[in-house]
Amino acid sequence: MTAFADMETGRAMDAADRVPGARALAPEELATSPDVDIVVNLTVPAAHYGVALMALAGGKHLYNEKPLASTRAESREMISAAASRGLRVGCAPDTVLGTGIQTARAVIDQGGIGTAHSAVAFMASPGHEAWHQRPQFYYQQGGGPLYDMGPYYLTALVHLLGPVKRVVGASSRPRPRRVVGSGPLAGTTFHSEVDTHVTGILEHASGALSTLVMSFELWGAHLPKIEVHGTEGSLSVPDPNRFDGEVERFSPGSKQWEPVADVAGYIGASRGYGVAELCEALATGRPHRANGELAYHVLDVMATLMDAADQGRWLELESSCERPAIVPLSALAQVAGEPS
Ligand SMILES: NC(=O)c1ccc[n+]([C@@H]2O[C@H](COP(=O)([O-])OP(=O)(O)OC[C@H]3O[C@@H](n4cnc5c(N)ncnc54)[C@H](O)[C@@H]3O)[C@@H](O)[C@H]2O)c1
Repeated sequence: MTAFADMETGRAMDAADRVPGARALAPEELATSPDVDIVVNLTVPAAHYGVALMALAGGKHLYNEKPLASTRAESREMISAAASRGLRVGCAPDTVLGTGIQTARAVIDQGGIGTAHSAVAFMASPGHEAWHQRPQFYYQQGGGPLYDMGPYYLTALVHLLGPVKRVVGASSRPRPRRVVGSGPLAGTTFHSEVDTHVTGILEHASGALSTLVMSFELWGAHLPKIEVHGTEGSLSVPDPNRFDGEVERFSPGSKQWEPVADVAGYIGASRGYGVAELCEALATGRPHRANGELAYHVLDVMATLMDAADQGRWLELESSCERPAIVPLSALAQVAGEPS
């Protein structure tokens, strides 16, 4: 790690103080420093686009937090700015590269549940204001339960079942008034600019149907995170916001849920693996899995789902993407060699 930048200079200095050898820079300096190869864009969603374009204009590879940007137009501009300069775009989430989602994918790919025909994906939460000290951005354009948490679930569904062809959905905003729950702003009220309960059906190119609920309105729930159902069995998939977790399979023969041993994914993975894999991919010239094409498709699914909810009808996706290659059960070789 070479340097930190933030529009609030003190925050960059605090971060730099905690990492030996790192320094604090202004964002414009970071984007042009000769010793910076990759800019990791951890800003709030509304700032992703501006910071990303600045980094790309400075000749830096980009690894972005999710969602890729607030809109499809911004995302397309980021991807074409990178392509025109021969730079790479990476994007969160990288959790899906861990043993949890990758093992589930291996079971599906090996026919362990027959033909996968459907999935359910549920994200149930009362809202991030319960724990985040500056939660307003989660309720602005580029936020909400779908744009904030959807990338984990949708990226996992694309790894498991492939790209999405068309979507339909409905959404609502039962509690538009929200209250900051902790920190210096505790007790401050604000209004959500986006819908806080989103439901949808996704038809994948394979024909599989995924049913989705992403909500900042649920106080408690017994819902699974993700299940995938096939002609010869069912699969319980762990939390896509985590790297690990137990996969369970239900087969008609055993008639019970049985644990599946880890057979794929980066062992012991944690935050930063997506950037680390991007570094390794740059060094070896291979593709990186947490890539801009996939992140754009996920953003397109979310934007199209909200359009479909507004219009009350099925809508076709504009984009598609390659399903990234499965991660063999392995350690990430270059993870110790951090990006400069
Ligand atoms: N908080 C989490 O647990 C978490 C987990 C996973 C992903 N994320 C993602 O990380 C991103 C940031 O979330 P957060 O919770 O860390 O937010 P945050 O508000 O705590 O931090 C964002 C930082 O970005 C800085 N910033 C904003 N606009 C900027 C700009 N134009 N130029 C430079 N700096 C700018 C802010 O000053 C702040 O320090 C979001 O995309 C979010 O989805 C957050």
